[in-house]
Amino acid sequence: MQNGKQAVVVSVNLPADLQGALQERFEVHPVAPGERIEKALAPDVAARIRGVVGTVRTPLDQAFFQSMPAVRVVSNFAVGYDNIDVKAATAANVVVCNTPGVLDAAVADLTLGLILCTGRNLVGLDRFVRDGRWAKGAAPLSYDLMGKSLGLLGMGRIGRMVAERARAFGMKVFYHNRNRQAAAEATGIGYLERDELFRTCDFVSVHVPLTDATRNSIGAREFGMMKPSAIFINTSRGAVVDEPAMIEALKNGTIAGAGLDVFVKEPLDPAASALAGMDNVTLLPHVGSATHETRRAMIDLAVHNLIDVLEGARPGAAVNP
Ligand code: DGY
Repeated sequence: MQNGKQAVVVSVNLPADLQGALQERFEVHPVAPGERIEKALAPDVAARIRGVVGTVRTPLDQAFFQSMPAVRVVSNFAVGYDNIDVKAATAANVVVCNTPGVLDAAVADLTLGLILCTGRNLVGLDRFVRDGRWAKGAAPLSYDLMGKSLGLLGMGRIGRMVAERARAFGMKVFYHNRNRQAAAEATGIGYLERDELFRTCDFVSVHVPLTDATRNSIGAREFGMMKPSAIFINTSRGAVVDEPAMIEALKNGTIAGAGLDVFVKEPLDPAASALAGMDNVTLLPHVGSATHETRRAMIDLAVHNLIDVLEGARPGAAVNP
């Protein structure tokens, strides 16, 4: 502690009012997003840091917790926290916070956007107009959403909001989840076994977090079960999918297309990824939560989580068991 203030690291761009709120209370040390915090700070500063606000690009693994023993809270500016070793944090008595609840609608909207882009070929048709092809002939036809089946892998808050939106488009919605969701089924969302969901749905959309159990869990076997007309949507985490197997399935017509907001390596390098050269995919730069309103709500929650823990209050959202 210096001047009676606890030291914290901020590894995310903050709006001025939140920067002020932190500076009033703490000695604030900025670290560039994505940098390893324990390496970016002088050892005497690192030894005093009590809390961190960072993004999913901030690696907070065992090495971090071992080298920064004074840390009491790490607060992610994201609902996902696959950048944090929660077991190591818990063992080191560190509270891990995230931002659930405030981004569900934005991610669900984007998921529907990808379903529309791939089903109705919105991006392809935009190119058709810009390239001057409209004057030369009729635009290619796309596919209805009405009556199509949507299989949601994962039925948490975001899955439920995607289901509501998809049903408004006349889609038949199914889900698979580790635990059956009586509330979802009561609203007419049908439960399917996992293989059945891949086998039968026209669209399959992923809404599971990245964990040891889900990493690489969708691969050649799952794509091989899908219909050749099926479309794969991913707005969760790229590493849930075996990306080379997905690329192969898209190349050889095992599946018809994909709408992707997330990738194994981000930012996606268009020069290095075969995805960038494919017409049957829509690619977005991990923007599920990237609206003005949602990002503001997320950063509010992330900053207040950190303040709460360091001031001895219960944070709005903590993930440790
Ligand atoms: C989240 O909040 O987890 C978003 O995907 C941003 O990383």
